[in-house]
Amino acid sequence: MRDLLPPEVAVAVARPQDWSGQLYAEEAAGLGERAVDSRRRDFTAGRVCARRAMAALGLPPVAVPAAEDRAPVWPAGTVGSITHTRGYCAAAVARRSEVRGVGMDAEQHKELSPGVRRLICLPEEEDRYARLPSGVSWPTVAFSAKETVYKLWHPLVGTWLDFHDATVDLDPDFGTFTARIAPARIDAAPVDRPPTRVIGRYVVDSDLVRTAAVLLPQ
Ligand SMILES: CC(C)(COP(=O)(O)OP(=O)(O)OC[C@H]1O[C@@H](n2cnc3c(N)ncnc32)[C@H](O)[C@@H]1OP(=O)(O)O)[C@@H](O)C(=O)NCCC(=O)NCCS
Repeated sequence: MRDLLPPEVAVAVARPQDWSGQLYAEEAAGLGERAVDSRRRDFTAGRVCARRAMAALGLPPVAVPAAEDRAPVWPAGTVGSITHTRGYCAAAVARRSEVRGVGMDAEQHKELSPGVRRLICLPEEEDRYARLPSGVSWPTVAFSAKETVYKLWHPLVGTWLDFHDATVDLDPDFGTFTARIAPARIDAAPVDRPPTRVIGRYVVDSDLVRTAAVLLPQ
């Protein structure tokens, strides 16, 4: 993840001890007492990584509670993103004066079923991905890119984006993606200057697909 984001963004990837680290009371309250063990460990690793990223920026460690819709509530003056998947967790934090928004996502690198693929990709996207080099599940990369876009979009704009509300082009020569947001979602955005296009980076290995994107101040 570090290599996917510019230096203004501090990134922390979970170490083994982070999965059983400490939560602040307001974080634990949001997680709830009935959370299953795996959910508790993922949530905890995300918060521990978030605080390590804050420390890397010279910021004090503070709680990152969850809003009702599960979005992390970052401390004033900061933006951030959290992802976790089996065996992997990372958090990114930046100062709002330097970065308008950040998103990142990690997924297991495996094929999507045809039904899931149709939910995630428009037919023209599927056609484009079918022409990319073999050995990579490109719809999975697009899925991760779209989740990255949502994690960046939602804190800035506050509205929902469906998977078909962004079309993603993938460039394997550069490890980049370009997501174009549907004009209807842009027109309906209740904020000034909603992102219309998000350019991000991805990396794929045998286990994981990782994507990240940042919006710099205009
Ligand atoms: C929110 C969502 C993107 C999370 O992605 P995921 O692959 O399920 O899970 P990840 O582990 O990568 O990310 C989970 C983290 O995302 C963060 N998150 C949740 N909701 C969020 C939101 N609205 N905005 C920003 N970040 C959010 C949280 O930190 C969460 O971890 P936590 O609950 O432990 O704090 C996904 O569940 C979702 O709702 N997707 C549908 C919307 C979408 O992606 N549309 C595509 C638009 S092109």
